[in-house]
Amino acid sequence: MIVLLTGGGGQLGRCLLDRMPSTWRVAAPAQHELDIVNEQAVQAYVADLRPALIINAAAYTAVDNAEDDVQAVYDVNAHGAESLARAAARSGAGLLHVSTDYVFDGGSDRPYVETDAAMPLNVYGHSKRAGEMAVLQALPQAIVVRSSWLFSEYGNNFVRTMLRLVVNGAEQVQVVDDQLGFPTYAGDLADVLIALAGRMPNVAAGLYHYCGAGNDTTPVSWCEFARAIFDCADRVSPCLQLPVLLPIDTSAYPTAARRPMFSALSCEKLAAVGLTGQQTLPPLLSRTWRVALQRVVCQLLQQQRA
Ligand SMILES: NC(=O)c1ccc[n+]([C@@H]2O[C@H](COP(=O)([O-])OP(=O)(O)OC[C@H]3O[C@@H](n4cnc5c(N)ncnc54)[C@H](OP(=O)(O)O)[C@@H]3O)[C@@H](O)[C@H]2O)c1
Repeated sequence: MIVLLTGGGGQLGRCLLDRMPSTWRVAAPAQHELDIVNEQAVQAYVADLRPALIINAAAYTAVDNAEDDVQAVYDVNAHGAESLARAAARSGAGLLHVSTDYVFDGGSDRPYVETDAAMPLNVYGHSKRAGEMAVLQALPQAIVVRSSWLFSEYGNNFVRTMLRLVVNGAEQVQVVDDQLGFPTYAGDLADVLIALAGRMPNVAAGLYHYCGAGNDTTPVSWCEFARAIFDCADRVSPCLQLPVLLPIDTSAYPTAARRPMFSALSCEKLAAVGLTGQQTLPPLLSRTWRVALQRVVCQLLQQQRA
């Protein structure tokens, strides 16, 4: 199968590349080779490659910068995603597109399901919601997977930030303790996307939620996530001097973009897909972020010391 992967240099993209089956012929152009904002270039690239599947892991993901960079954010997250969907529609390719928990406003008292109303609080969330709608309008057969709080051994993410503070000898770290969600290992999301891709014509199109909840029903705060990171670091290197963790409220940590206070996603719709084959979804869905975290912390600590 010929596959076009956009955003292959990002953290999800790199996790996908690590895991794609060897039977897939994958083209993963960097942004300077294929800018998804350039619709003509996207059409030409897809017409030339003739992929059976496009996976869009490209996005403008700097949530706070997005507030002052509205045009650029929409160009990538809405119009870029739409360009890919139109190219897929024209060429007959399938499309897997990735979106975010930040399409929700955080007012729910239970994990969000796909039919809950999206009411983003920030520019990034609005642009991702616009992208979801544009994709599904241009290509109703597309699959859009929302995920949350991604971390991995690649790129900039919360785990890397916390470990940098540890390695740099920070004495104390203040972390927001009243925003709740589920962290997700980007490698686990990649495995889910690959499992979906392998069964695409048989999986109902539309929106799905995937996060690293596993069998946990209780979401965590960023501060609890930081505690788990420090615990993993302590297990890997008991000689490390860990910073004192100070839980704070969102109001004490003003950011350019407002964030939902609660953005846990329910994976029940995905669990009901009932895929069969080598990588069935139920075992993938039972993976919790905590298992992957230990491995990622180990890898990042080795990198940061090298
Ligand atoms: N990070 C999270 O916590 C999180 C949470 C929920 C959902 N998501 C979603 O998950 C997906 C993957 O996120 P991620 O964390 O892997 O993002 P990331 O690490 O920031 O990677 C984004 C990738 O998109 C590429 N890109 C940006 N603009 C582009 C353009 N105009 N044309 C082509 N490529 C472009 C970037 O290329 P360069 O490297 O050249 O800049 C980069 O490779 C996104 O859809 C994101 O919205 C992320």
